[in-house]
Amino acid sequence: MATTLITNIGELVTNDPAREGVLGAIADGALVLEGALVAWVGAAADAPDADERIDLGGRAVLPGFVDSHSHLVFAGDRAPEFAARMAGESYAAGGIRTTVAATRAASDEQLTSQVARLVAEMRRQGTTTVEIKSGYGLTVLDEARSLAVARQFTEETTFLGAHVVPDGTTPEAYVDLVTGPMLAAAAPYARWVDVFCERGAFDGDQARAVLAAGASVGLRGRLHANQLGPGPGVRLAAELGLTAVDHCTYLEPADVDALRDSGTIATLLPGVEFSTRQPYPDARRLLDAGVRVALASDCNPGSCFTRSLPFCIALAVREMGMTPAAAVPAATAMGAAALDRSDVGGLVPGMRADLVVLDAPSHVHLAYRPGVPLVAGVWVAGRPM
Ligand code: NIG
Ligand code: FE
Repeated sequence: MATTLITNIGELVTNDPAREGVLGAIADGALVLEGALVAWVGAAADAPDADERIDLGGRAVLPGFVDSHSHLVFAGDRAPEFAARMAGESYAAGGIRTTVAATRAASDEQLTSQVARLVAEMRRQGTTTVEIKSGYGLTVLDEARSLAVARQFTEETTFLGAHVVPDGTTPEAYVDLVTGPMLAAAAPYARWVDVFCERGAFDGDQARAVLAAGASVGLRGRLHANQLGPGPGVRLAAELGLTAVDHCTYLEPADVDALRDSGTIATLLPGVEFSTRQPYPDARRLLDAGVRVALASDCNPGSCFTRSLPFCIALAVREMGMTPAAAVPAATAMGAAALDRSDVGGLVPGMRADLVVLDAPSHVHLAYRPGVPLVAGVWVAGRPM
């Protein structure tokens, strides 16, 4: 198989725990790619020969970003809702219903081209693995087709029929639908099942029922929890040993203890607090307590319409007490862990050759120069995009 040597890398972030120092980074590094995989990693001076050679002129290379939380299958626009928030209104779960109406009215082709456009935008900003949820269909047909659309773009698809109770039904009847016929129609296209466990959406018992039904057909659980206020979701995720629980904005001491003890990853979504003017979660408190922390975009039309993990990294550093050296692995290695993936999120021989080239000498510039398009190149499975 053809090999490519990428050399003269000012800072090569590997996330390899076996390497000493911050981020397993190598100064003046090099990589050899073979097919879709990383074949060799080390100092440029020690690099082996390869069929092709690319000189990066001192730029930094990072593992591709892993965005473990997004809602890309939707139609319509909620800019007026955002403008109203910026004029003083508060964010509530009910806005989801506006998008549900527009999504149901859209054709499969419209939804597919919308997801293609958003995934391409993510790619340009360095995201090489993305999770995509359903949750704006909320009928058997619309949830299944949302997931079928998402599946065209990623293996990491999540059934979020339990996003909000749609108009015209009761919570009890809707949970029966979600755990019955809707789950049956959605499961062939999904790897994960998720619930918006929040006041105005689903309570802890309902979340438990949906996750149990999902588990019975082989779907792994994840939760939206403690976004708009304290609640039972984070402790439920820890009790069930879920891989990750997302938002974690309002945490009580017992929530932090439960996350630490269970090893459940707290996925923080700072673009949401930016776009809803809520207080940011305290990442420093979680890290100091020994909780594993990931960062993701939560790209959706309501609470956060960014596709940019560089933007989320900058917010996490400026607003949430993270250092750049903590935020970068949170958006790469920990994002991968939040999806139970060991093949992405690092640059170690045998892993998928997904990489981001920065037009900058180090990862620190992602937070140091916010809003600047620093991603100069993106490789997915050994191929430049
Ligand atoms: O993750 N929390 C639930 N879902 C989205 C918001 C969806 C919307 O407002 O449309 C979120 O923030
Ligand atoms: Fe979300």
